[in-house]
Amino acid sequence: MDDTIIITFANQKGGVGKTTLCAVFANYLVKKGCPVLIVDCDAQQSIKERRKNDLLVYEGQDVKLPYDVVSFDITKTDQLLVFIENLKHSRGIVLIDSPGTLDLQGLVILLCSSDFIVCPFHYDRTTVPSTVEFIGMLERIRAEMGNRMSGQLILIPNRQDPRVGKKNELALWEQTREAFSNYGIVTPKIAVRADMERFSTISDLDNQLEIVSPAFDIIYKAIFGTIEPLTN
Ligand SMILES: Nc1ncnc2c1ncn2[C@@H]1O[C@H](COP(=O)(O)OP(=O)(O)O)[C@@H](O)[C@H]1O
Ligand SMILES: [Mg+2]
Repeated sequence: MDDTIIITFANQKGGVGKTTLCAVFANYLVKKGCPVLIVDCDAQQSIKERRKNDLLVYEGQDVKLPYDVVSFDITKTDQLLVFIENLKHSRGIVLIDSPGTLDLQGLVILLCSSDFIVCPFHYDRTTVPSTVEFIGMLERIRAEMGNRMSGQLILIPNRQDPRVGKKNELALWEQTREAFSNYGIVTPKIAVRADMERFSTISDLDNQLEIVSPAFDIIYKAIFGTIEPLTN
């Protein structure tokens, strides 16, 4: 692939899985043969920290890193546009983990520069309204920016427990899925599974592949038009 594709994981709600899905999607893309870079824009620097800890496991060994993890402070709005411009010269897919907040100008710039905006959420009483608010914000930016904001929205119902949900709740969630699909692609659900917490930024994703594939294949297809791995 010659172009750079920027994918930002965003939702102002914390704990929905932005960081986890960003890192696991990086591992998924590497398995598909895509060059990947992670830009950690979260103040907590969770992916950067995770990489540091993962490296300790391989101390003294010559380990080949599947992708780089860099960080950027998006409150530095004056440097952000130059930073993004430079990213566009790196070949491959750039995955950005964004902070859980709406009131940052930097986040708006980031979203406007993204080819895809991936928004994890869960079906519950607090997360759905927050996600509605996030979608509303995106729509307002789109209205203001016109075709300067072209990123495709992808919504991922994450951390789903198949044992939870009464009949009326299941019906409500189905309505939510339908309503959300007016604004973007809603992928199949990702289950709540302890293996999702145990991802590594160095070794591959054998433990997570089966959990995330149905959702991630949809994103991959939206990017490449196929689910076949890259050949060159
Ligand atoms: N599908 C999942 N199954 C189990 N745990 C998950 C899943 N997705 C995320 N988590 C866990 O939920 C918590 C919040 O996820 P995180 O990725 O940090 O969310 P965010 O970045 O949106 O705040 C973390 O402890 C993470 O390990
Ligand atoms: Mg996070």
